[in-house]
Formats: sequence, structure tokens, C-alpha cells
Amino acid sequence: MKILLTGGAGYIGSHTAVALVAAGFDPIVLDNFANSHPVVMERLATITGRHIALERGDVLDTPWLEDVLRRHQPVGVVHFAGDKAVGESVALPLKYFHNNIGGAVSLLRAMETVHTENPATAPTLVFSSSATVYGDPATVPITENFPRSHTNPYGHSKLVIEDMLSALRTASPAWRVGVLRYFNPVGAHPSGLIGEDPAGIPNNLMPFVAQVAVGQREHLNVYGDDYPTPDGTGVRDYIHVQDLAAGHVAAIKTLLRQGESFTVNLGTGRGHSVLDVVKAFEAASGKPVPYRVAPRRAGDVAQCWADPALALRLLGWQALHTLDDMCADAWRWQSANPNGYRS
Ligand code: WQD
Repeated sequence: MKILLTGGAGYIGSHTAVALVAAGFDPIVLDNFANSHPVVMERLATITGRHIALERGDVLDTPWLEDVLRRHQPVGVVHFAGDKAVGESVALPLKYFHNNIGGAVSLLRAMETVHTENPATAPTLVFSSSATVYGDPATVPITENFPRSHTNPYGHSKLVIEDMLSALRTASPAWRVGVLRYFNPVGAHPSGLIGEDPAGIPNNLMPFVAQVAVGQREHLNVYGDDYPTPDGTGVRDYIHVQDLAAGHVAAIKTLLRQGESFTVNLGTGRGHSVLDVVKAFEAASGKPVPYRVAPRRAGDVAQCWADPALALRLLGWQALHTLDDMCADAWRWQSANPNGYRS
């Protein structure tokens, strides 16, 4: 059974492709490599021991998407493709609304057109959403019925796409939709062959810490140590990308088996502070991670972690990896690929 992965050469997409092969599916990677690298396809072949089909193009090209869907007839689509840098989205809102919302509209229209040609099929979609749709939560842990809000165009685009999917399901009940709200994805495949490869200076904590440990950056700036948290630094729900990939396989299987749509948090249910991550990474790598306390970063919340009970109940899924696992696997990827896929 074929599964189309838009943005499938990206960080979460590539790990999900590996997990889908292991689960007996046939992933088709669709990517324009705007924020990923073609060498990922060779790495996927090495890890899985088989060729992974690639469709190179842009999700904004609706007629091309229809052609891809007609040729492959996937039983489901996972929509990863999109831009995801919070800071960049504040500076370039139109890029985010165009690529993220426009890309989703293009994909959904292509799926709807092909579904109309084959009414017996049920359009099946898993959407890569984000805990950022919860904005600054009043309390933690966060459940799926918490109010949503947006504090930046990236989060706004995710929220709008969730609303589009809800309206589509109301209009066309045949659609089967799984919305997955990621918390903080980190880590890498244990082979060290694929991992997180941010362009330029990493916005996110884990890749920045990894680059300090490998000697690429002098020190980490800790954005504030005066938050109302145990050690004063920000607390997040870091989830191993392998657990996240397994969550996507569980989501696809659930949609294909039961057909009921759902929205679930993909998190561990445990929060870790910035300094927890620094300590765990030093232990995993055996390298020092020097840091300096810097002013708070605009838009950051003090603490954010998931209540993952619904995903366990609906998908039979829960995160299994620990923060130490996440750091060990992130270190193996970083030390084997000091310049990411460019090395
Ligand atoms: C984590 C903690 C920072 C960098 C964002 C998006 C979210 C998702 C994940 C896309 C915070 C602190 C960070 C640094 C630091 N992205 N930090 N120094 O902001 O929780 O979530 O990325 O899907 O949608 O909102 O992740 O890793 O940037 O920050 O002290 O150099 O680390 O203040 O407390 P965040 P993050």
C-alpha cells in the first residue's frame, strides 16, 4: 500500500518513510528540496535496503499533484511539506501563508479531484500540525480541547489548515483526517544516517546544543533563566523523532482501519528544562556544552508539555524514548555529519 509523503525528504518525513517501510507500507517521497537535501534519498535506501520512489516538485503545482496521485493511487497522504521557522514567519508572513496554507489548499484540491474520479476511495490524510496552535497555555499538561491561538504566522498557518480540514470533513464526510500536534521533535534515527539538518543558525535548542558539542559553535545562549519553572529555564515536551514517526504509522493504520477522524497530541507527557537538555547532552556526548544566560526570546512561553492520553486511547501509541536516548541519537547523527547533509 502506497503512502504519499509531501515534504518526505525533510526531518520528520524521512524518519516516517523509514517507519512506514518497516510497517510494510510503500512510501512515495514528494519534495522540492527547498528545505531538505537530495542525499536523504540515498540514506533512506541504505537504511531500508530498498529504493524509495521520489516525486520531485512543489505542492503548489496542483495539476502535477493530481498526476502524482493518479499514477501512484496512494491509500493515504501525509502532509509534511511547509515552512516551519517561527522567527522567519514573523519576518516573512506571506511566504508562510502562501507555502503553508496555499500548499495545503493545493494538495486538498488535488486529492478531492482524484477522489471524484474514484468515488469508491476515501481521501485519507494525516496532517503535520504543531503544539504551537495552543499559544501560551494557561496550564499544563495540555489536552486537545485546550483553546487554540496563534502568536506568529507559522502557528497561524497551522491553525488555519486545521480549520480548513474541519470544514472539508463537514462538507465531504468521506474524508478521513488525522491531525497530529507535535510538541518538540528532537533526536535522529539510531543509524546516524538521517537527522535534523537546519539551514544556517539553528533556531531550535537541540540542534544548537549539538553544534556546540561538536565544536561548531562556541556556546549556547540560554534564553532566560527567570521563568516560573524549577530551574528558571523554559520547559518543553521533547519527543524522539522515532516516536513521532511511529505515531504517524499508528495514525495511518487507524484511519485505514476505522475511518474515524481525530486530532491528537504527539508528546511524551514529560517536561524538561533547557538546563536538563544541556546536562543530558553533555552526558550523552561526553563533550562540554558551555552556555551563557541571555535575555528571554520574544514569543517564548515558560512551559509547554502534552497530555498524550488521547493518542494512546485512539491510536494505541505512546512515546517510548527517554531524553537520554534523544541526546545519544542526536549526538551520533551530529558527530557523523558535522555539516549535516552537506558534509
Ligand atoms: C525550546 C526551549 C527556548 C534555542 C518551536 C516551535 C514549534 C516547533 C519546535 C516547528 C525554549 C530555549 C532555544 C536556543 C534556548 N517547531 N532555547 N536557546 O520554541 O519550544 O518550539 O520549535 O514545528 O512549533 O514553536 O522550541 O527548541 O526553539 O526552544 O534557550 O538557542 O529552548 O527558550 O525554552 P520551541 P525551541
